[in-house]
Amino acid sequence: MKRISERISFLEPDPSSDRPLLGYVRGTRLSLAFDAGASCRHVRLFYSELEGEGLPLPSLTVISHYHWDHSYGIAAINGLSIAGRGTYDHLLEDMKAPKERIYASSIADDYDFLRKEYSCPEEISIRLPDIICNGSLMIGLGDASAWIFHSESPHTDDSTLLYVPEDGVLFLGDAASGEISSASDLETGGSYDREKTMALMESIRRIGPLYVVESHAGAISVEEELDYLRSRLGS
Ligand SMILES: [Fe+2]
Repeated sequence: MKRISERISFLEPDPSSDRPLLGYVRGTRLSLAFDAGASCRHVRLFYSELEGEGLPLPSLTVISHYHWDHSYGIAAINGLSIAGRGTYDHLLEDMKAPKERIYASSIADDYDFLRKEYSCPEEISIRLPDIICNGSLMIGLGDASAWIFHSESPHTDDSTLLYVPEDGVLFLGDAASGEISSASDLETGGSYDREKTMALMESIRRIGPLYVVESHAGAISVEEELDYLRSRLGS
């Protein structure tokens, strides 16, 4: 686990499997996770790290967006999951789709990772989120609070962000990544819709966090994040 502040840490992302980081906020009354991860095995690894550090398992897990590497772990989490309406709807579509089709999806590079995570289609287990956040939700964790809210993003239409004001930490999920719609997008970082990128930059500026946390990279400074997004405007 990598620590960002006294009460916030994360299981590090793994570029070899494309697993994103899993965030953790320890409140005096409730603990909360950011993202359920790619699979039951990913959740078990996260929870064993928490137990190793004597930390309570999260009562709540916020899902950043519907992509499988962030959401398919819901089936194995402790407590309840929270997601935006769009994430719920996307996961409902995934649930209805034949698992063989998910397994053999055409974005080859990304789904190579899925095929590494799951040895066969039957291993995939999708569960819908328990609580729908329609726009914005504030949860008291005891000595800290969790602000969960929808944001425009160039990556997907269902980005949910988490801000912990007491620590000045903003979890972005993949919201600062581009839209990935083909294998070549994975190499270039995807396409950045100008309006959506500017809306995300404005959200970050308005909140004014100390750090932002990107799911496949880790914690970076706000200036670094805004510089990057500015460089990708309209690309
Ligand atoms: Fe994603």
